[in-house]
Amino acid sequence: MLDLDAIRRDFPILEKGVIYFDNAASSLTPEQVVLKEMEFYREYRANVERGVHRFSQMASEEYEGAHEVVADFIGAPSADCVAMLRNTTEGLNLVANSLGFEEGGKIVTTVIEHHSNFITWLRVARRSGCSVEVVRPDREGRFDMADFEAAIDDSTRLVAVTRVSNVLGCKVPVKEIVSLAHEHGALVVEDGAQGVPHLPTDVMDSGVDFMAFSGHKMLGPTGVGGLYICEEELYKTEPLSIGGGTISDVSLDGYELAVAPLRFEAGTPAIAQVIGLGEACRYLDRVGMGEVEVWDEKLSARIVEGLLEIDGVEIYGPSEPRDRVGIVSFNVGEMNSHDVALSLDTEYDIAVRSGHHCALPLMKELFKLPEGTVRASIYLYNTLDEVERFLGGVEDVAG
Ligand code: ALA
Repeated sequence: MLDLDAIRRDFPILEKGVIYFDNAASSLTPEQVVLKEMEFYREYRANVERGVHRFSQMASEEYEGAHEVVADFIGAPSADCVAMLRNTTEGLNLVANSLGFEEGGKIVTTVIEHHSNFITWLRVARRSGCSVEVVRPDREGRFDMADFEAAIDDSTRLVAVTRVSNVLGCKVPVKEIVSLAHEHGALVVEDGAQGVPHLPTDVMDSGVDFMAFSGHKMLGPTGVGGLYICEEELYKTEPLSIGGGTISDVSLDGYELAVAPLRFEAGTPAIAQVIGLGEACRYLDRVGMGEVEVWDEKLSARIVEGLLEIDGVEIYGPSEPRDRVGIVSFNVGEMNSHDVALSLDTEYDIAVRSGHHCALPLMKELFKLPEGTVRASIYLYNTLDEVERFLGGVEDVAG
């Protein structure tokens, strides 16, 4: 059971009285993470991996330590396998730019993907002549594995799937998809943007070859995210950028890249943010991701139950609470989703996201909703009392 009072004390921004239900867009940040970043600026502000002086040594130690904590948090076999990049989008683009794609080859993805895990592959197809096949779930976000069996064949180079839809909150059976893909020699990249913050993650268990995720959705700072690359692909994968910090040797006619993960982290990295992300993982580890998952399920189940009782509200995504991570998308009658979100903010101090949530294929193809939905997304510091106040606000707006 989460100690909600203690957790909420770690997030002073909550004292402003806003019910923050926009966690799928970006989470709040606890004091521990803010202080850890400040520690870098106040105590050992220097560049990393480039100096023998004490500040650089201390900064490098913290920076490398953060890699280890993050690697451990996602179940990676070592810190070598986790490159610190800007965010999920950059990780996915690194994979897209690194893997060779050819005419006749295929990428399999799904209609529920965030644009970052969708248009990236459309661009690869446009440039390389390979094809993109899109698998669809039902309207609750349930996939039929037979559709993946039909789509993935020996011409498939890559399967790109999210673990959790950022609109429907449904969980995708990534592990089953991985084993199917591997039978055909295809690689799998997981968009972990919503999964890593909300579910226990074990990349060795799921078997994914790549997994991209963002720090700012999991209590960490903005501007930092990770890309897990499995050991097998680690030295076959090309960095997105190369330059300072990525080499072990340079001559007039060549260069040797450094060991992983440094070879992927060109230029001076987001040092404070990486150190902050390590602290965010320590925080989530102390709370326990199993506990976070249970709390998510409890709050989102109550949100769904309460919304179902309000006339004119339509809810999207799984009807079974266990199938849903803490994300609930809905509409109120014919009201525009932005109008609903604005009313909730201005009249009830509730922050939610509205619109297409960077998932236009899902909106258009599954629901014919190009204008999108209202989305309430919760996290470990939200309470049942906040949920009741949110439901009261939606009821008033709907009435
Ligand atoms: N990907 C983030 C969201 O779904 C920004 O809101």
